[in-house]
Amino acid sequence: MAQKIIRTIGVLTSGGDAPGMNAAIRAVVRTGLGKGLKVRGIRKGYQGLLNEEIIDLSARDVSDTIQRGGTILQTARCDEMRTEDGQQKAAAICKKYGIDGLVVIGGDGSFAGAQKLANLGVNTVGVPGTIDLDIDCTEYTIGFDTAVNTAMEAIDKVRDTSTSHERCSIIEVMGRDAGYLALWCGIANGAERILLPEEHDYNEEIIVKDIQENRRRGKKNYIIINAEGIGDSINMAKRIEEATGMETRATIIGHMQRGGSPTCKDRVYASIMGAMAVDLLIAGKTNRVVGYRHGQYVDFDIDEALGMKKEIPPYQYDIAKLLAL
Ligand code: ADP
Ligand code: F6P
Repeated sequence: MAQKIIRTIGVLTSGGDAPGMNAAIRAVVRTGLGKGLKVRGIRKGYQGLLNEEIIDLSARDVSDTIQRGGTILQTARCDEMRTEDGQQKAAAICKKYGIDGLVVIGGDGSFAGAQKLANLGVNTVGVPGTIDLDIDCTEYTIGFDTAVNTAMEAIDKVRDTSTSHERCSIIEVMGRDAGYLALWCGIANGAERILLPEEHDYNEEIIVKDIQENRRRGKKNYIIINAEGIGDSINMAKRIEEATGMETRATIIGHMQRGGSPTCKDRVYASIMGAMAVDLLIAGKTNRVVGYRHGQYVDFDIDEALGMKKEIPPYQYDIAKLLAL
């Protein structure tokens, strides 16, 4: 089959927003324009595509955005895109607007949508954007670095008051079913316990004994980082306080982890990945996803990427436990 010549590309952000998405959008727009393409922005993810919320983007439209959190294109979750009818409608709208290539910035779910569009003849490239770091083919996802730093700073603050009052603090971080934010915060904040959905060693009796042991050893507080995938922090705090007699408070950091100005790393990696996505489209590639592995920016077939399985590195988890001594 003759390679499709790309003249117009579209870009959308989909699923949960992540700091650094604007840097990726900016890179897509300016790389596309710089290489002679027309660039269209699609508002509010696949929902906006189905509603034809499509605008032309100029280099100036992305001025002054690299440092901003959120996504200037806005984002959405869209059930219609999960249906065959929705996917066919979305592909037809891309054709109607002359969008030969589409850059989808989002997570695994968004890539599944891109895969469906690729099967329907729209060239697609995915760029990993999620604070959860739960995309298997890549060691880096846009937004994780900012989110983990935001969470780390919040946890430091909770620790101050926890120490003053000699309390146990259960701090819940986001991540949906993935424990990467929790693991990194656990290490960075020197937590006594990290509860991860991927590990099956969560046992409250052991935690209670450990808290009592720690008090005997003279520790002034006890920090538990609880992943959202385990949840139940407020009830857990009540149970632990009752069982240990140590005052216990729960803090759910929540959506503040998703906002804020992106870190340098998120701006730089997102810029490179956005530019690379456009270059892949220009090279005639489709059904690809950009990633970062072993110190290199790489790309994978979306089918292959979605088939990979990411695991919490056991050595890192063991180290985190040892350092909590
Ligand atoms: P993320 O992209 O962060 O994983 P979601 O799982 O919410 O976030 O997916 C974002 C959107 O991608 C969904 O709201 C839906 O529109 C689309 N999507 C998810 N899964 C599929 C699928 N299997 N087929 C087509 N589109 C999908
Ligand atoms: O995927 C990003 C994320 O923030 C997850 O960590 C969390 O589970 C989810 O999105 C929250 O989604 P919502 O913004 O719809 O509450």
